[in-house]
Amino acid sequence: MAKYIINGGRPLSGEVTISGAKNAAVAIIPAALLVDGVCRIENVPAISDVNLYLKIFEQMGANIRRIDRSTIEMDCRGVRSHRPPFDIVSRFRASSYLIGAMLGRFGEAEVALPGGCDFGQRPIDQHIKGFTAMGAKVEFSGAAVHAKADGKLKGNYCRLDLVSVGATMNLMIAAVLAEGTTVIEPAAKEPHIVDLANFLNAMGADIWGAGTDTIKIRGVERLHGGTYSIIPDQIEAGTYLTAVTAAGGEALIKNVIPKHLECITGKLIEMGAEITEYDDSVHIRRTGTLRKANIKTMPYPGYPTDMQPQAGVCLALAEGTSIITEGVFDNRYKYVNELIKMGAQIQVDGKVAIFEGVPSLKGCPIKACDLRAGAAMVIAALAAEGQSVVDDVFHIERGYETFVEKLTDLGADIKRVEDMPPVRAKIS
Ligand code: EPZ
Repeated sequence: MAKYIINGGRPLSGEVTISGAKNAAVAIIPAALLVDGVCRIENVPAISDVNLYLKIFEQMGANIRRIDRSTIEMDCRGVRSHRPPFDIVSRFRASSYLIGAMLGRFGEAEVALPGGCDFGQRPIDQHIKGFTAMGAKVEFSGAAVHAKADGKLKGNYCRLDLVSVGATMNLMIAAVLAEGTTVIEPAAKEPHIVDLANFLNAMGADIWGAGTDTIKIRGVERLHGGTYSIIPDQIEAGTYLTAVTAAGGEALIKNVIPKHLECITGKLIEMGAEITEYDDSVHIRRTGTLRKANIKTMPYPGYPTDMQPQAGVCLALAEGTSIITEGVFDNRYKYVNELIKMGAQIQVDGKVAIFEGVPSLKGCPIKACDLRAGAAMVIAALAAEGQSVVDDVFHIERGYETFVEKLTDLGADIKRVEDMPPVRAKIS
């Protein structure tokens, strides 16, 4: 297992270029199953969740060509099975989009229940509610979902009980080749939702209203091949902006869509950062005192839950008392115990965490509990005095491309080391 060794306690300074959005890529790749032709997808992030998806499609007979580090060509016309390999599917959350893709392509899907970050219950009942509304019969059997339509899915009104990124993505994918029109309401409005709709429309789908509370999908006969470039990753950019705010210093974050970052930069300015926006980059400087702030995570355009752990590191160091309310997931505070090891003063009560700011954190052995909590621990180590060793960094590498190299470009003292396997004593 790999670890990061970080010597913190000094300001960051440098430039970093943001990669393609993880949560767009892991929806666009399965959606390519619906395309009757070759999809050229650009700005694909080189992260392990994307590699897992490409492995699934290669094993199922798709023709995948890696043109360069961030460009792939996918031809899924050779895929015949509606049963993706269970062992890979159960390793990440986004694999649930295979249900919508298989239903849309074959009218049937048998997909292992998804895995992914553990922040309590993460059901897919809303996904199933939508598939059922579109005429699929859905059953759970042996840790897998079996969904089957009588021929093609039928367009219908999908009234969801809550705003769900995954359900919105999955139902959009399932509806594009359905007979008739589907309406998803209330729909999630994240930038990656709009990116999926734009990808599908570029391949000939007929989707309206992505980015609003109501998405309408008129079913079409087929999708043709084409080229699409994935948007920059809002959360990756937010993570580097928050790292500079926590550790101090300044940086230029390149290849971003500033509009997508407003929910994040607004809070960083409250904490004492100075932000300058350009067309496709953002400059940040934090040299003064870190100020307290209160955060409530919400679906977009609210403060993103995927930025909550990273913001928590800043609040642990901010003067005064700050409060975070996690408005999306049941339990996304596993990182708090790791921060307390470093000297933070935080109390968690259900969805609320109260931060009493301390002047500094002390480096020590810590671990990544999940993807974004792991990124938060790296930020804490960069801000802390002394050396930290962050364990279980595989969580982080699911969603951050060349994380160590990019942080090094920002002036961080960080090294990635592989854990040597235990040496077995030779018994002569
Ligand atoms: C997506 O997860 C993201 N994952 C998450 O990012 C992100 O935190 C989350 O959206 C919220 O933005 C991917 O895109 C692969 P939801 P998802 O459905 O789809 C409940 C990261 O760090 N719910 O919007 O699982 C659910 O339990 C990852 O990149 C149901 O009750 O999130 C949660 O409380 C972590 N039933 C809330 O809705 C359902 O059928 C929002 O979940 C679906 C969701």
